[in-house]
Amino acid sequence: MQLLDGKKVSEEIKNEIAAEVAQIKARGEKVPHLAAVLVGSNGASLTYVGSKVKTCEKIGFDSTLVSLPEETTEEELLAKINELNNNDAIDGFIVQLPLPKHIDEQKVLNAVDPDKDVDGFHPENFGRMALELESFIPATPFGILQLLERNKIETKGKNVVVIGRSNIVGKPMSLLMSRKAYPGNATVTLTHSATQNIEAITREADIVITALGVPEFLKADMVKAGAVIVDVGITRVADETNPKGYVIKGDVAFDEVAQKASWITPVPGGVGPMTIAMLMKNTLIARERRAK
Ligand code: GUN
Repeated sequence: MQLLDGKKVSEEIKNEIAAEVAQIKARGEKVPHLAAVLVGSNGASLTYVGSKVKTCEKIGFDSTLVSLPEETTEEELLAKINELNNNDAIDGFIVQLPLPKHIDEQKVLNAVDPDKDVDGFHPENFGRMALELESFIPATPFGILQLLERNKIETKGKNVVVIGRSNIVGKPMSLLMSRKAYPGNATVTLTHSATQNIEAITREADIVITALGVPEFLKADMVKAGAVIVDVGITRVADETNPKGYVIKGDVAFDEVAQKASWITPVPGGVGPMTIAMLMKNTLIARERRAK
């Protein structure tokens, strides 16, 4: 078994981006500027947004954190988005999800200028991605493509099984793996909560990508020997013996599945760090496009 080491690959990508930023600076041009909007104080969201801002600093991007209270109305949030759309200093921005229940998430995502939509969540970018046109690709699926590509894992004609149909991971992932370009050209099955006899489907998979958020869902008897396993799950499970009060668990029973897999992502240190690296990549792309 070989580790699909997201920590290592994400460091490579961030170093490549930092080198490009150094060149941008050397030419006296404007460096990429990412803004992140956080509504409320969801613990996991605070951590993610904090990491995104910190990564910007490390690689030489400008960053702005827009922190809004839980009680922010949909109208106020839409006004803030309009402001970011029109702020020429900002190259790209994200609205951290999930949003409080009184706000219509899709309405908010629809309001983001597609050219600044570095999460790739706007319907225009999603549609362009499906049509294999140039678009922003959502950071987590984009990170998984990079993990496969940079480890030279063959995907053409392979059976890929995606577990979970979220708009930010499972659905885009299934589309990307069925596109013609490498890493894609696979035969894709998208499974979800209404799927029957899922283990019969996962056992046929050459590549399994799990994004459902159920700790240790995927067991050894559900995978084929030699399969490639990509675990997107990051669930906080209460654990009093840990100083943080919780531990992070993936969707895969790592120890037993690792015995059968050819490649497997660890959690943490697999897909998670790739997501942040690819958000940075998208922000660099947004800056370069705007500079033209
Ligand atoms: N919440 C969980 N993942 C993501 C992500 O990739 N982007 C945003 N904006 N929110 C998220």
